[in-house]
Amino acid sequence: MGGQFIASLEEVKDGEFLKREVDGKKVLLTRVNGQIAAVENRCPHLGLPLAKGEICDGAVTCPFHGSRFDLLSGENLDWTHSFFGAELPKWSHKLIALGKAPQDLHTFDIECVDGAVYLRG
Ligand code: FES
Repeated sequence: MGGQFIASLEEVKDGEFLKREVDGKKVLLTRVNGQIAAVENRCPHLGLPLAKGEICDGAVTCPFHGSRFDLLSGENLDWTHSFFGAELPKWSHKLIALGKAPQDLHTFDIECVDGAVYLRG
């Protein structure tokens, strides 16, 4: 095992984030179709927190500029298309990206043993 305890399994729920910090790592935990997802509480766009992002269909939408990320793989699904929840016209999406190219969300390796979630590495 060798991981660090981060939460008990029953605390991690579908459709909501459980915010934890372990060794300076800011982690958001949630469940997607029964699987535990552990992602960094830091949007790769401008480094803002994702904890208040909306969870839908296994993805989180950043509350600041609307980038979307798959919660299990971290894959970027959509990049900067809104501003604090207001949809922006397509031509402006690049402007709001502020020169940042799309990036995936950082995910953490976890292990679930005996009803507990451990962060690896
Ligand atoms: S900080 Fe998340 S999309 Fe800009």
